[in-house]
Amino acid sequence: MYIFFRTVFILCTFVAFKILKIMSKRYTITAALPYTNGPIHIGHLAGVYVPADIYSRYLRLTGNDVAFICGSDEHGVPITIKAKKEGVTPQDIVDKYHAIIKTSFEDFGISFDNYSRTSAKIHHDTASEFFKTLYDKNEFVEEVSEQLYDAEANQFLADRFIIGTCPKCNYEEAYGDQCENCGTSHNATDLINPKSAITGNAPTLKETKHWFLPLNKHEEFLKEWILKGHKKDWKPNVYGQCKSWIDDGLRPRAVTRDLDWGIPVPVEGGEGKVLYVWFDAPIGYISATKEWAERENKNWEDYWKDKDTTLVHFIGKDNIVFHCIIFPSMLKAEGSYILPENVPANEFLNLEGNKLSTSKNWAVWLPDYLNDFPNQQDVLRYALTANAPETKDNDFTWKDFQARNNNELVAIFGNFINRVAVLTNKYYDGEIPEPSEFKTIDEDTLAALKAYPAVISSSIERYRFREGSQELMNLARLGNKYLADEEPWKTIKTDEARTKTVMFVALQIASALAVLSEPFLPFTSNKLKSILCHSELDSDLTWDDIASKDILLPAGHSIQIGKPELLFSKIEDDTIQKQLDKLEASKKANEAANKVVEPQKEEITFDDFTKLDLRVGTILEAEKMPKTKKLLVLKVDTGIDTRTIVSGIAESFKPEDVIGKRVTVLVNLAPRKLRGIESQGMILMTEDEAGNLVFVNPSIDGVANGLKIS
Ligand code: 2FM
Ligand code: ZN
Repeated sequence: MYIFFRTVFILCTFVAFKILKIMSKRYTITAALPYTNGPIHIGHLAGVYVPADIYSRYLRLTGNDVAFICGSDEHGVPITIKAKKEGVTPQDIVDKYHAIIKTSFEDFGISFDNYSRTSAKIHHDTASEFFKTLYDKNEFVEEVSEQLYDAEANQFLADRFIIGTCPKCNYEEAYGDQCENCGTSHNATDLINPKSAITGNAPTLKETKHWFLPLNKHEEFLKEWILKGHKKDWKPNVYGQCKSWIDDGLRPRAVTRDLDWGIPVPVEGGEGKVLYVWFDAPIGYISATKEWAERENKNWEDYWKDKDTTLVHFIGKDNIVFHCIIFPSMLKAEGSYILPENVPANEFLNLEGNKLSTSKNWAVWLPDYLNDFPNQQDVLRYALTANAPETKDNDFTWKDFQARNNNELVAIFGNFINRVAVLTNKYYDGEIPEPSEFKTIDEDTLAALKAYPAVISSSIERYRFREGSQELMNLARLGNKYLADEEPWKTIKTDEARTKTVMFVALQIASALAVLSEPFLPFTSNKLKSILCHSELDSDLTWDDIASKDILLPAGHSIQIGKPELLFSKIEDDTIQKQLDKLEASKKANEAANKVVEPQKEEITFDDFTKLDLRVGTILEAEKMPKTKKLLVLKVDTGIDTRTIVSGIAESFKPEDVIGKRVTVLVNLAPRKLRGIESQGMILMTEDEAGNLVFVNPSIDGVANGLKIS
């Protein structure tokens, strides 16, 4: 019954989809340009690059003309700050990370048509020209105003050079241009209690000239385009944020900065100033398209100025205002560009219950993953897609990653393919058998199979990649269930003809999986196509063929002979534990690095100091204080005597570890009773870099117990 209803449901979706299906089209797909001050992590992948890649691969597979564009965002204050910290130039920083990011994207299989960078000449030229066009059209307001200035550092404080309280949500660490807590974009002068990120000083105000994009002038257009237009089908989080900004009223935004790293302002009076990074970065999509078009002998304008081209921006939720309000206003002001059809922004991905953070090193970095899990790109793609933060923030856990691999990719998808390939080899030397009469279950199964392209297409086209990945897994489930019900390993002994039909049907499902998995699991799709020898078929199987062709793998076609390569392998607990340990170590190291040094205590006199009697000692005996977690009872040779000291170090040391340790003892501390035992002094302790307790240890050879420390 379930199969019947599901088949009816799937067929209805299929028909509706066929009616709606638009003819082959041209698409410009952009993925947010990553800042070039660190490698890519799983948050970036889940939020932007994996969904954008699934969408672009799908569009190509369904016969569309696609430009999938990205590149490094190499300007902006974070890069300057990092360069200062490391004592190198901003160019050194971007060169280093551009190479790391580009290579890791390639190794991970993100199929950009072009991955460019905003320090490229073509980008500087394109962004300068764009600015000049708006300038010549009087689209900017030029204004001398008072901006925040750090007199000690002798510089204006733009963007991340200034930190203060967000005027909207009261978050105390908002930046000058944006609050990362509530996503608001504001002017630096709006911050409450601003402080320089360079010196920590409260800024002063100093006059300077800047060019502002009068967003208020575009308010009517934005209302018309987003609120009254058809943008209600945008994701609710995106539409909601846009509506709230428009309802709050839009104000002019400065698009130039008093900084020295960036694209010089190309008009009179712009000397010593650069374009705001959020002005130049989205233009990076255009310059990267130009660079690609030149290389591929195409016309870039087709991808940006033809109203029949569909423009889609893949971004994280912190980028919504820039892609839905500011960049469209810039494009509209310029006048000759198309506007985005959709901006399917994702929410954030957390890691093991905590916010991902580059600065706190709380992340799974892509280069590390590629190194630790060689040839397992698709496992991460799948885990991130199946748990994508599409409608709310989600959590990545290594346990979930392991479960997605072991229980779904290995146990369902891999298991089905392995059984099909092994049995085809074993029974038919790898040759697809001739089927005989189809039973109802065979026909139902083939009908259900044919509906999958439409079902998965419908999910992908509505940006529901989680749903799409689960439908793909359902197709593998269909195959597994079919084999489990029809048991060819049993019928081979009794009914050869029936076995051939069952294996024929199972091979059709395997072949469909090879094609339909490509957007989600491109490496697996390639492996599966080789196992099934798709390249030996008369023509490549397309997405639409899965629904329209009665036979995907014809009888007589041969698949790879021999033991098939396993598509996925089980991930053991110790592999996962290593990753968890790595995170724990990074957390500890970060806590140590960011440890706040306690302020100095109240001043004491020399006489006060001389009252302390500190001696070198040795721990002779140690045992746990019964019924406590924290206390060790120690016998310490102080040189004066051997005395008992009760010390709260039992959570950090076992008794046997401390026997023989040289220590510093405060011997004239007034004795006090702890759990009935008198403690006659105190052992001095501190913490190492990772936050572990360590003895303040007079480790000079030949120092005798009892010697004074002064
Ligand atoms: O948030 C970020 O990482 C930005 N570098 C995204 C820029 S997207 C585009 F506009 F270039
Ligand atoms: Zn805020």
